[in-house]
Amino acid sequence: MNKKRLLTGDRPTGSMHLGHYVGSIKNRVALQEKYDCYFIIADLHMLTTRPQKEHIMAMRGNMTNMVLDYLACGIDPEKSTIYLQSAVPAVYEMNLLFEMFVALNRLTGLPSIKEMARNAHIDEESIPFGLIGYPVLQSADILMPKGEVVPVGKDNEAHVELCRDIARRFNNYYGEVFPMPEVLLSETPTLIGTDGKGKMSKSADNAIFLSDDAKTVEKKVKSMFTDPNRISADVPGTVEGNPVFIYHDIFNPDQAEIEDLKERYRKGTVGDVEVKQKLTMALNAFLDPIREKRKHFEQEKGLVEQIIYEGTQKMIEVSNETLKEMQSAMGLKGCWNKISRVARSRKAENK
Ligand code: TRP
Repeated sequence: MNKKRLLTGDRPTGSMHLGHYVGSIKNRVALQEKYDCYFIIADLHMLTTRPQKEHIMAMRGNMTNMVLDYLACGIDPEKSTIYLQSAVPAVYEMNLLFEMFVALNRLTGLPSIKEMARNAHIDEESIPFGLIGYPVLQSADILMPKGEVVPVGKDNEAHVELCRDIARRFNNYYGEVFPMPEVLLSETPTLIGTDGKGKMSKSADNAIFLSDDAKTVEKKVKSMFTDPNRISADVPGTVEGNPVFIYHDIFNPDQAEIEDLKERYRKGTVGDVEVKQKLTMALNAFLDPIREKRKHFEQEKGLVEQIIYEGTQKMIEVSNETLKEMQSAMGLKGCWNKISRVARSRKAENK
């Protein structure tokens, strides 16, 4: 039986951190077994907020690091197609065609667009057309391989909803071409950053990266935010919502050790130092095999490029099929085909 097709991916912002791991990568590794997976490196989406040359130049290194992290975590190119969005010609064409099936109001009302603009320091009056169209381009990504399952975070849920609207409208106008993609929401809520202030993110400078070495992890854990009311080790502390314990719960497999630490923390009989030392050990034990695999892939010169290249070739083929099917359903090529036929036969007859 054919597996269902799944599509998801990331903008190439660089190395991935623990937040990416628990929020998406871990999930993807598991989903590879069940679905025919496509993972997009969404560099065109990156342009919607960062079109300047310097950002484009930085993207190559960023995507290499990102793909190295995927591979190190167990994303398997034998099972999954990793591809570069901007290298697939059909995406530009499908994006334009899909623009006909969305009301502008739907797009301008989306909080996600405003948030992306805010994060990129673009004020509301200056939002580029391309950023307004972000979810339309995303719909082209999803529908290119006729994706049926789209694992994304809450922030992208509305985009998949919009993609369904586009697919539905297309099918209404021209006949059944597209499936109705479903969101697969990630179960893990976003991971809090080491500063305890908000979600882990590179720009907030509160991230532990999958590629951080053991010393760096130790340093970052040492400076982690804990219970601010606890000024010394003999003061009873709060475990709930405390980033150090949130990380223990996720990354430390030693349940008994966690329970013991929590109990003593609540009573005020354990210092932050010990809690953090044990967290450092747990994190490094978790990261060690990832580091090792990363090193292996890093040493194989050109391997990452080959993986992206082959994945992209595959997507180019798949997407051309879909585009042809769309154009033929729409009758869009009819006019040009007729013109070419007549012109060619006239030329053949009498020059
Ligand atoms: N929007 C995703 C992000 O926040 C990236 C992305 C682009 C994507 N196209 C997609 C995700 C298609 C899922 C499906 O980075």
